[in-house]
Amino acid sequence: MSIQENPIELSKIYEEAPITEPQRQYYFMELLKKIVKQRSEALGRPLCFCCVTFGCQMNARDSEKLSGILEAIGYERTESEDADFVIYNTCTVRENANLKVYGRLGTLKKIKEKRPGMLIALCGCMMQEPQVVEKLRTSYRHVDIIFGTHNIYKLAELIMNRLESGSMIIDIWKDTDKIVEDLPEHRKYPFKSGINIMFGCNNFCSYCIVPYVRGRERSRRPADILEEIRRDVADGVVEVMLLGQNVNSYGKTLETPVSFAQLLTEIEKIDGLERIRFMTSHPKDLSDELIQVMGSSKKICPHLHLPLQSGSSRILKKMNRKYTKEDYLTLVEKIRKACPDISLTTDIIVGFPGETEEDFKETLDVVEKVRYDSAYTFIYSKRNGTPAASMEDQVPEDVIKDRFDRLLAKVQEIASQVCARHEGQVMDVLVEQLNHQDKSLVTGRLGNNTVVHFPGDASMIGKLVPVLLKECKGFYYIGESYEKR
Ligand code: SAH
Ligand code: SF4
Ligand code: F3S
Repeated sequence: MSIQENPIELSKIYEEAPITEPQRQYYFMELLKKIVKQRSEALGRPLCFCCVTFGCQMNARDSEKLSGILEAIGYERTESEDADFVIYNTCTVRENANLKVYGRLGTLKKIKEKRPGMLIALCGCMMQEPQVVEKLRTSYRHVDIIFGTHNIYKLAELIMNRLESGSMIIDIWKDTDKIVEDLPEHRKYPFKSGINIMFGCNNFCSYCIVPYVRGRERSRRPADILEEIRRDVADGVVEVMLLGQNVNSYGKTLETPVSFAQLLTEIEKIDGLERIRFMTSHPKDLSDELIQVMGSSKKICPHLHLPLQSGSSRILKKMNRKYTKEDYLTLVEKIRKACPDISLTTDIIVGFPGETEEDFKETLDVVEKVRYDSAYTFIYSKRNGTPAASMEDQVPEDVIKDRFDRLLAKVQEIASQVCARHEGQVMDVLVEQLNHQDKSLVTGRLGNNTVVHFPGDASMIGKLVPVLLKECKGFYYIGESYEKR
């Protein structure tokens, strides 16, 4: 689509653009809406976009904002990458996340050759790495727009820049102290939503690239968070997931500091909101105040994701995690005392540089002691620029693989026992969707996040339903609606 065919006067676009945000973006959205409409009329069909998300819940939330902007411009959502606008929201936490993107870009090139006017945009964590952008700039010329994690709110303006210049647009910010509120968004589920409470990370765990690609820790103001949740609840949301790389340090950088526990207490008061979840908690910052609030709350779900990373105090020190094996176990004990029924889940890395068989056994020991409901296990991935990348004693691949398999077997064995502990009980399930395989069933989650399938229909979606948990099948339950009996 060339700008010359467009129903707007070029010279004035930037002259008349408001300086303040988000007004500036709404201005570009209005202009683009006209362009998309004209193009769509010429083609005799709607223009469509496809947004592909890699990585964590933070990225999933960003994608809802990107999709919201694209919909406001007039693109219709599609799941197929054979679309007029394709955007990849990338992740770089491990090497394999990175490789996937390059592979898919190759396929997109062929699609673009057959689709005149198609635009390809890349954003997210991977784009914050200069060597990635350099590679794209030189070898992936079919990409139209490249931006990072700090300026996703600018998507409309970047599309306009691309149309106006006719060449690849690269706009990467090193960091930002800006949080732009009130842009359009497209929530994936009508009944649950992800709410950013903070951005960035200051922890610099020695293996992790996130602080380099997401920038310094910034908390949103409590008033903005509460308003967003109230708005979502008025719109039908019953469950929120508060998002941040380290929610336990929420509020420390605000003008008037507020603790995460205080924020939760305020959120709890919102009428109509039924469930509160949050992610992720760093063990070093999990306060007694938070444990107490969790213990007395009616809405905070009995689930805590508490990444361990390693059970060896020696490795934890090299990882810069700032707690020991004993600290972690003591913390778990305290939490279990305040919330006896809580489900604990975790993240574990196998094969961190210098990890010995002894260190690994310490990890297995913690897994046996804590008895997690589930654990995400990762093979250590060397990330350029992190301190761990230049550490000696990188562990050989076959040794890592063997440890990984042993850990996984242990995690799964324990998880299936732990998961079954509610068999025979009646618990509330938030119904999320029709079961993919069997349409006579619906699928939802318990407060502790365990999946439950039970007979039901689409009218139950988004509702909390009491369910008799008849049988645990390892990681999920088969149940029966209790109201019907
Ligand atoms: N902020 C969260 C985690 C974000 S990244 C926290 O601190 O808990 C999600 C998970 O990816 C981490 O918990 C870690 O287990 C894993 N991870 C991060 N960097 C990694 C690397 N270089 N190799 C393998 N796994 C990694
Ligand atoms: Fe990475 Fe550590 Fe920050 Fe989590 S807390 S994002 S693992 S640096
Ligand atoms: Fe990946 Fe970025 Fe999340 S690197 S895990 S998408 S913060």
